[in-house]
Amino acid sequence: MIGPTWLVEDMVRIERLLLDTAGSSNDPLVGEASTHLIKAGGKRLRPALVLISSRVGTPGTRETDLAAAAIELVHLATLYHDDVIDQTETRRGAPTVHSKWGTEVAVLAGDYLFAKGCGLGAEAGTQVSRILAGAIAEVCEGQIAETTTLGDPHRSTDAYLSTISRKTGALFRAACELGAVTSGASPEQISALSGYGTHLGLAFQIVDDLLDLVGDPAVTGKALGTDIREGVFTLPVLEACRRVPELAKLLTAADRDIDDLLRTIQTSGAVEEAQEAAKGHADAAVASLNGSSAGEWLEALKTIPAGVLAQI
Ligand code: IPE
Ligand code: IPE
Ligand code: MG
Ligand code: MG
Repeated sequence: MIGPTWLVEDMVRIERLLLDTAGSSNDPLVGEASTHLIKAGGKRLRPALVLISSRVGTPGTRETDLAAAAIELVHLATLYHDDVIDQTETRRGAPTVHSKWGTEVAVLAGDYLFAKGCGLGAEAGTQVSRILAGAIAEVCEGQIAETTTLGDPHRSTDAYLSTISRKTGALFRAACELGAVTSGASPEQISALSGYGTHLGLAFQIVDDLLDLVGDPAVTGKALGTDIREGVFTLPVLEACRRVPELAKLLTAADRDIDDLLRTIQTSGAVEEAQEAAKGHADAAVASLNGSSAGEWLEALKTIPAGVLAQI
């Protein structure tokens, strides 16, 4: 991850904490399975958000480090389970845990990572634990909401936004709040950062959904068209259905061809429309910070939404 020197230095501590915590079992299989995706790479965006946000107050506390590692462990746990649900073969450019060790190990190693993240959260105190627990519950709600609309090409935009606000927005919001509360920020500062995290999370998931349609697997580390294959019809796909009337039927046809579907969506104008929606949330994220006092941390936060958009 590229960033200011202080962030790179802070992240070295978090990396050690992550590996030590996830790899602390005496059982070699547990250790290997639980550290597999940490070693495979990843952007470490959520811990970076904790660390940058903590600069709104008194940075460098042990609680901030614990919270930063905790939220990445929770994120990892959701990825282990998400890959089982989505039946994907690659993540972070590496084989997924279930494709390497089987579904049982993937589900249980995911649970293990949740527990390890919660353990770090408990060490950091009640406030951190409460934020983490709330975010985990929201992610589950969002993921469950998604499964109830699988295969529905007429799902509303509001239903889509409500789902991604929980399944993805919750951890982004929590990351920013964790940085703020562990550094002694004021209620106003916590609220501004929470708003920033919410909108950044929405922009981030819309971009991720676009990358599933137009991304380069060599860069994303994930296969193209997974969402369509699994019946997860995301904002650009829903918009394409409004533009191309026959698409709804094609998406759910037994003999559908994923490459054909991708081509239809890519040329429908829906990609550009979803890009605009992502930009709206990226701008709203930055606007949430209006009124925050100037500082290097503020500049760092302001550059992230543009970096998210630049992936497409
Ligand atoms: C993947 O998150 C899950 C989504 C919310 C789309 P990231 O894109 O942050 O995954 P890593 O951590 O960089 O692998
Ligand atoms: C999953 O969203 C978000 C999580 C809660 C893990 P996606 O299913 O789009 O994430 P990717 O594309 O597999 O990373
Ligand atoms: Mg997935
Ligand atoms: Mg995705």
